[in-house]
Amino acid sequence: NSFPQGFKDGFLWGGATAANQLEGGWNLDHKGLTTAEVVERATDRKNFTFDKVTKESLEKALHDPSDTHYPKRRGVDFYHHYQEDIKLMAEMGFKAFRLSIAWARIFPNGDETTPNEEGLAFYDRVFDELAKYNIEPVVTLSHYEMPLGLTLKQNGWASRETITDFLRYTDVVFKRYAHKVKYWLTFNEINASTFGFMGTGALDSDLAPQAQLQLRYQALHHQFIASALAVQQGHKINSNFKIGSMLARMQTYPATSKPEDVRAAQESDDSNLFFTDVQVRGEYPEFMNRFFAENGITIAMEPGDEDILQAGKVDYLSFSYYMSTVTSQKNAGDKSVGNMVFGEKNPYLETSEWGWQIDPVGLRITLNTLWDRYRVPLFIVENGLGATDKLTADGQVHDQYRIDYLKKHIEQMKEAVKDGVDLMGYTMWGPIDLISASTSEMSKRYGFIYVDQDDEGHGSLRRIKKDSFDWYKKVIASNGEDL
Ligand code: BG6
Repeated sequence: NSFPQGFKDGFLWGGATAANQLEGGWNLDHKGLTTAEVVERATDRKNFTFDKVTKESLEKALHDPSDTHYPKRRGVDFYHHYQEDIKLMAEMGFKAFRLSIAWARIFPNGDETTPNEEGLAFYDRVFDELAKYNIEPVVTLSHYEMPLGLTLKQNGWASRETITDFLRYTDVVFKRYAHKVKYWLTFNEINASTFGFMGTGALDSDLAPQAQLQLRYQALHHQFIASALAVQQGHKINSNFKIGSMLARMQTYPATSKPEDVRAAQESDDSNLFFTDVQVRGEYPEFMNRFFAENGITIAMEPGDEDILQAGKVDYLSFSYYMSTVTSQKNAGDKSVGNMVFGEKNPYLETSEWGWQIDPVGLRITLNTLWDRYRVPLFIVENGLGATDKLTADGQVHDQYRIDYLKKHIEQMKEAVKDGVDLMGYTMWGPIDLISASTSEMSKRYGFIYVDQDDEGHGSLRRIKKDSFDWYKKVIASNGEDL
């Protein structure tokens, strides 16, 4: 009776990013504005509303041509630094680099019939640079950054029309990069759609809560269909493509052993796994029928939608993992925080500076849970520690706290692999410091590479290796043995 002793050969070690947090060049070479680029920087990092774009704030953003209040417009200028950045990733020994294509670089308004060649050429340059170092691109087709034109024209994913616009875009990039990219993801953190604008690209803050819920689940249905159709489209273009789903995984624990609390935690976990149930199993799980009925939600389906979901099952399941949370029957304890987290605090866990509950064992629990439920290859495409790093006078960053965080998570990954979980790879979040998705701060840093830029956008943009840089290099060189 043998079992795996460590990570498999060809394990995809690397890092993950998104165009709107990394690239900058927001208005260059005919790129259109994206939904991410109208989200204002949060002024209070602990007390802000995730994902708040209203008609008024959008109007204001459209009349503000600067990147001061909208840091995702400037990112960290990967647009001009990609060669230097990829070289640094290669020096760490990266096997994979997850990035997103900014849909609005390819179709600036989202509804054009001809793609923007300058946008396509940029990603050619990036993929060619990665190929020089044998780094496998892992490409997210939509990472909270749809063309804003589709919001203005048809309220984003609230409209079924957006499926057609998305498939025109995916057809172009699948064909163009058919021999440069093998690994694709459809929607980043598909569960974000039920939280509003960032996921749906639809303005809904004027709606009553029930109507808002109705709109978000309908928009989500359109994304499920778009994703399933893109999976089929991609496989036709290149049968070697591996196309995955992506979930913001929320591991939930019961607050006590009281059966009602355990049931509450199960319910909360199911409401997180419903998204991957649809994308991996190809159908809505039964418990959602009850949820929809009890919340007055009716999903408008067209004939054939159920077949589309079945025929468009993903090849693998990828997810982000930053924290776990706690649920009780009454959900009455002190609240925990995190992107899309609404549970309670766990007294056994430490938190990051941003209050996110750090839980390496939770990653193993999640890996085992997902493997047991789905039996498809798993890919951790985000995990990491956002922290305030200090640059010393002699130009160094001593980030032992980051090394400790990553080491503990990788140890637990290895335990799951020994249990028999099929794990394809690990791309930690933000190998190079970038703009935060939630608060748009620069000072919430995740990287092995420090970028000289502050929250106001001042700085030389110089890239500096942190202590964690050499540590990760050693981890990759030893295939996760030397931690
Ligand atoms: C995930 C997103 O939710 O978390 C990333 O997919 C994001 O885009 C990451 O950056 C970390 O969140 P934040 O808010 O710290 O940047």
